[in-house]
Amino acid sequence: MLSDWVSQAIDMINADAIAIHLNPAQEVFQPEGEPWFRGVIDKLRFIKKVANRPLIVKEVGNGISMEVARMLASKVSPDAIDVAGTGGTSFIRIESIRAGTMDEADVFNGWGIPTAISICEVRSVYDGVVIASGGVRSGLDGAKAIAIGANAFSMSRPLLLAALKGYDETKRFISRLLKEFRIAMFLTGSKNINDLSKVPLFLARQ
Ligand SMILES: Cc1cc2nc3c(=O)[nH]c(=O)nc-3n(C[C@H](O)[C@H](O)[C@H](O)COP(=O)(O)O)c2cc1C
Repeated sequence: MLSDWVSQAIDMINADAIAIHLNPAQEVFQPEGEPWFRGVIDKLRFIKKVANRPLIVKEVGNGISMEVARMLASKVSPDAIDVAGTGGTSFIRIESIRAGTMDEADVFNGWGIPTAISICEVRSVYDGVVIASGGVRSGLDGAKAIAIGANAFSMSRPLLLAALKGYDETKRFISRLLKEFRIAMFLTGSKNINDLSKVPLFLARQ
């Protein structure tokens, strides 16, 4: 039963929060994928009720749109939305390599909403915590994400690569991220995260 799965998952690691990913593109390309999302809003609402923990709803690298965020905000009220947009790890590519369906995956290469755009779309309709992920690769990327509307940022691939090299490398990488983040705050005259979230924005093509 869904409520048993939720409590087992929480108990396994004494979880502080529960994150549910919406990953249709991953499921489509996954060899053992289950691309069936009917009733997902009701299930998310149910999980929020039984988990008794903050609920994070996230993508896995294809982004959350304004329309989906609006639906989540009005029907589920998650505590946080992690946009996990395009620009970083691609589960379409990972799964299609596993499945040997690279031709179809090439057609959908880059499918989704780039992380920066997804942050702006979600922020425009959702008042809760917005987490930026998907291609965040430095403390400066994280600072930019906060400047355009995220409350926090996260990353997978770079941390996994550091973790594969061990504890010291992971510690060194996180220290570097913090340093880059602090430099960005200093250079924008931001004394705290709130200041950083209000800095004037200059948008340019790179
Ligand atoms: C090896 C690996 C495993 C992942 N497993 C999960 C998972 O179980 N659940 C999930 O929601 N996201 C998972 N992710 C997705 C990440 O949370 C993240 O949204 C995505 O990789 C984009 O971030 P990145 O570009 O920093 O890697 C995983 C990512 C990687 C690289």
